[in-house]
Amino acid sequence: MVQLIDGKTISKQIKDELKEQVAELSAKGVKICLAVIQVGNDPASSVYVGNKKKACAYIGIDSLSYELPEETTEKELLELIDKLNKDDAVNGILVQLPVPKHIDEDKIIKAISPLKDVDGFHPMSVGALSIGQPGFVSCTPAGVIQLLKRSGIEIAGKECVVIGRSNIVGKPMAMLLLRENGTVTICHSKTKDLKEVCKRADILVVAIGRPKMIDASYIKEGATVIDVGIHRDENNKLCGDVDFESASKVAGAITPVPGGVGPMTIAMLMHNCVDSINIK
Ligand code: GUN
Repeated sequence: MVQLIDGKTISKQIKDELKEQVAELSAKGVKICLAVIQVGNDPASSVYVGNKKKACAYIGIDSLSYELPEETTEKELLELIDKLNKDDAVNGILVQLPVPKHIDEDKIIKAISPLKDVDGFHPMSVGALSIGQPGFVSCTPAGVIQLLKRSGIEIAGKECVVIGRSNIVGKPMAMLLLRENGTVTICHSKTKDLKEVCKRADILVVAIGRPKMIDASYIKEGATVIDVGIHRDENNKLCGDVDFESASKVAGAITPVPGGVGPMTIAMLMHNCVDSINIK
């Protein structure tokens, strides 16, 4: 029987552990505060931002909410970030992406102090991860590592294949698996013989952004399959980058969509907020 990797239960565990830590810190007079900035009112972003604020409330983290109009200029946004960077009462700053087209996303990411970069997107955070120094780690790949560890799946010495090379998921995912002593391969749109490479994997992390692309024919018998994708299929049902029905017949362990990687992203954001008191 395939092992279902339950992100809903594991993310709840992590949030409950964080809630205890925050209560202990609070008893010592240490407060944690996350500033969340949304520019414009993209409905999907509003849902994500709402969920982030809800998670803060559950754990006991204060959240400051900045809902800025679509017409906000880059200069105005940079000024707000600068003010929050200098505010000692603010531990973490998150600008919900995407920002409107007239604002340079890279400039915004770089403007956030690496000491408050709870998304782990700043080049300093990414560089620190690459050379094994302390810093914030991008939430989704950090969540995948927690799923593996808390499901008893060993990474050290294993063949790990990551499909996708985005700055937010694929690249940090590969660095994290390497940090855990996995043997890591990154695949992308130019990879030759994708199927053959995937079939070598003991741990296959799929972050391609194409619904149900990876079926049983890409998977070694007994492998662990982590599905980072989220889409709606032809029946408007949520699905991932992996064809779950087919893949679960050969995989040893697999994440469902929904209820796999998804809930871990916010749990790890909350982890980063609490961790902010250790990052100097
Ligand atoms: N938009 C989609 N995912 C994310 C995320 O993890 N962080 C931010 N800041 N924006 C996003």
